[in-house]
Amino acid sequence: MTAELTVDETLALEPAAVDLLFRQARTTSKFTDEPVTEEQRRAIMELVKMGPTAFNNQPLRVTFVQSDEARERLVAHLAGGNQEKTRKAPLTAILSYDSEWHEHFPTFNPVAPQMKSMFDDDAENRHKMGNNNANLQAGYFIMAVRSVGLAAGPMSGYDAAGVDEEFFAGSNTHSFMLVNIGRAAEGAWGERLPRFDYDDVVTTL
Ligand SMILES: Cc1cc2nc3c(=O)[nH]c(=O)nc-3n(C[C@H](O)[C@H](O)[C@H](O)COP(=O)(O)O)c2cc1C
Repeated sequence: MTAELTVDETLALEPAAVDLLFRQARTTSKFTDEPVTEEQRRAIMELVKMGPTAFNNQPLRVTFVQSDEARERLVAHLAGGNQEKTRKAPLTAILSYDSEWHEHFPTFNPVAPQMKSMFDDDAENRHKMGNNNANLQAGYFIMAVRSVGLAAGPMSGYDAAGVDEEFFAGSNTHSFMLVNIGRAAEGAWGERLPRFDYDDVVTTL
């Protein structure tokens, strides 16, 4: 049996949905001028919030950069190769984590609010768990963008300290990824880079 046959026989989703999310979807740097609407942004976040996180802590914070003024402030902190595509993208999300996420324990975990005390005096672990779980949510974010029929272009090539100073000075918000979002333009993609196969990366004990 080929790997492809195994996958298709195992899918619980329609193959077209899996194509949209995984197999046909590509990282995108070239978008049409079509704006990303407020409804689309809300639809994306309605999906993102349902992805699992430790303690249900949901540390991801999202800043949508849409205006020309905010975009230029952001682009100034990007690696050279990321500047032009971000300038031309209809929308860019700054993904950050809240290092004081534990303060919301009674809201996100009302069945065990006392667990907040585990983190009160442990800033290092708060940063670690906040960063890890927000990065998990970033994966959900990319898939949510694809779920509403849009394309995502994630980037880590930027000066995070500079962006944090520019947009989040004096706060508990720490950026870790940028995502350009929009409708993919014709010819947006070149060759797909190779992926590891099952046997390259999987060990079963
Ligand atoms: C966390 C993350 C950071 C990335 N940073 C950059 C970046 O700074 N600049 C860039 O051009 N591409 C960046 N990429 C894009 C990757 O190179 C791309 O997703 C990967 O090659 C797979 O491409 P494909 O989805 O078209 O197969 C980033 C992707 C991820 C997920």
